[in-house]
Amino acid sequence: MIGKAGIKTLVVAFTTLIVAVPPGWAADAQEIAAQAVLETIKAVRTVYSKQIIEQVKKAGVKPSEKWQSDDHAVMLNAQFVKAIGAEIKGFELGLVGLQPIYKSNTPKTPAETDALKKLAANPGQPILTFADGNQVKGLAADFAVTKGCADCHNAHPDSPKKDWKQGDLMGAVIVRFNK
Ligand code: HEC
Repeated sequence: MIGKAGIKTLVVAFTTLIVAVPPGWAADAQEIAAQAVLETIKAVRTVYSKQIIEQVKKAGVKPSEKWQSDDHAVMLNAQFVKAIGAEIKGFELGLVGLQPIYKSNTPKTPAETDALKKLAANPGQPILTFADGNQVKGLAADFAVTKGCADCHNAHPDSPKKDWKQGDLMGAVIVRFNK
């Protein structure tokens, strides 16, 4: 028979197991959900860039912002993320930047701006989650992994910044959940 003390030990052990999360992961359920969504979107973007775009290029089809009016173009990676976000009803998914091409990609609160600055300062911690008013938010750093990222933004007529370099933090994928 298991005694009272035994049961207590079991309950403590079990509770510890339930709340235990991988190191570096937030303990809050919504923050964990935000991290999972960001990881998934990162994977979806990689598949889009490395597999779909590379494949259609062989047929002369290229990513272009004006893809809708061009029979030989598909949407840009950034537009792909925003299009996915537009389909989601339960929470917000989008892109933000400190010096975005479009004002719609401006951080919505000072906490979002701070988070972008933190991501730029700590490349080793590419995902941040936090509570902000009545929402829980998650940001995943979006670095200019290739020179092409910087070149296209620098050349865009609406870009307020013309000296992006490879390696710069250009912005982040953002999720916003209502609490
Ligand atoms: C061919 C041009 C082009 C390339 C290449 C490109 N972008 Fe963009 N990017 C855009 C455009 C246009 C937008 C605005 C899309 C919108 O909001 O509809 C954008 C939006 C963004 C945003 C949201 C903030 C903002 O500036 O509006 C981030 C962050 C971003 N891009 C990062 C990147 C990264 C990182 C890469 C490389 C992996 C990259 N971009 C490659 C054209 C480009």
